[in-house]
Amino acid sequence: MSWERWDAVDRYTADLLVGGDEELEAALKASTDAGLPAIAVSANQGKLLHLLVRIHGCSRILELGTLGGYSTIWMARALAPGGLLVTLELNPDYAGVARESIERSGLSDRVEVRVGPALDSLLALRDEGVEPFDLIFIDADKQSTPEYFEQALELCRPGGLILVDNVVRDGALIDPDSDDPGVLGMRRFLEMAGEEPRVSATTIQTVGSKGYDGFVLALMES
Ligand code: SAH
Ligand code: DHB
Ligand code: MG
Repeated sequence: MSWERWDAVDRYTADLLVGGDEELEAALKASTDAGLPAIAVSANQGKLLHLLVRIHGCSRILELGTLGGYSTIWMARALAPGGLLVTLELNPDYAGVARESIERSGLSDRVEVRVGPALDSLLALRDEGVEPFDLIFIDADKQSTPEYFEQALELCRPGGLILVDNVVRDGALIDPDSDDPGVLGMRRFLEMAGEEPRVSATTIQTVGSKGYDGFVLALMES
């Protein structure tokens, strides 16, 4: 089965169930125009994030890896009234592009973009004694996922969700001779999550416009 086929089915199903959306398409265009890499979640995946936020009635979301704000907008739109999404981004130029798209989508009152290394921002959030989050989406640099997960465990409420993107990477996850830091990071993360009594987790492999990859969904035990 080819990437062309996955992509075509992704488009076909997204056209039927997700539909076009001016603000989200403008956010992608702004990202492309500013030269950001095309690595945002797909429309179907964005809609999944949106639905999870609604299903769980989330009012506090933490995102690691903003890029141009595409996944941010999908999730922020689903926030319960009075909700807040904090998103962490290393690159100040990317954060600027994201802020503009978030503003254009009318979500600036609900979204806070923090610039800097995610680990520093996570430690700052803990120092500030922030209220715990209902959902944490980990989608920044892949090699640091174990450290991000460790912090997420401290920042997520019991019964909250931790989602980790890009776990499978074309199956490289199980390549015995991979020395890709991202792959090694994901393996270390899966080992941690498997041994972590505070979460119950599963891995879902995905194919589509973004190729062959997968995500982990973890529930914080109460
Ligand atoms: N969540 C986005 C995609 C994020 S891509 C979406 O689906 O729309 C990964 C992002 O993580 C990039 O923007 C990259 O600049 C950022 N990133 C990389 N290293 C980081 C770090 N140490 N701290 C915070 N963000 C980082
Ligand atoms: C990359 C990052 C992502 O978050 C993603 O969804 C796909 C690719 C990357 O850094 O290559
Ligand atoms: Mg990703």
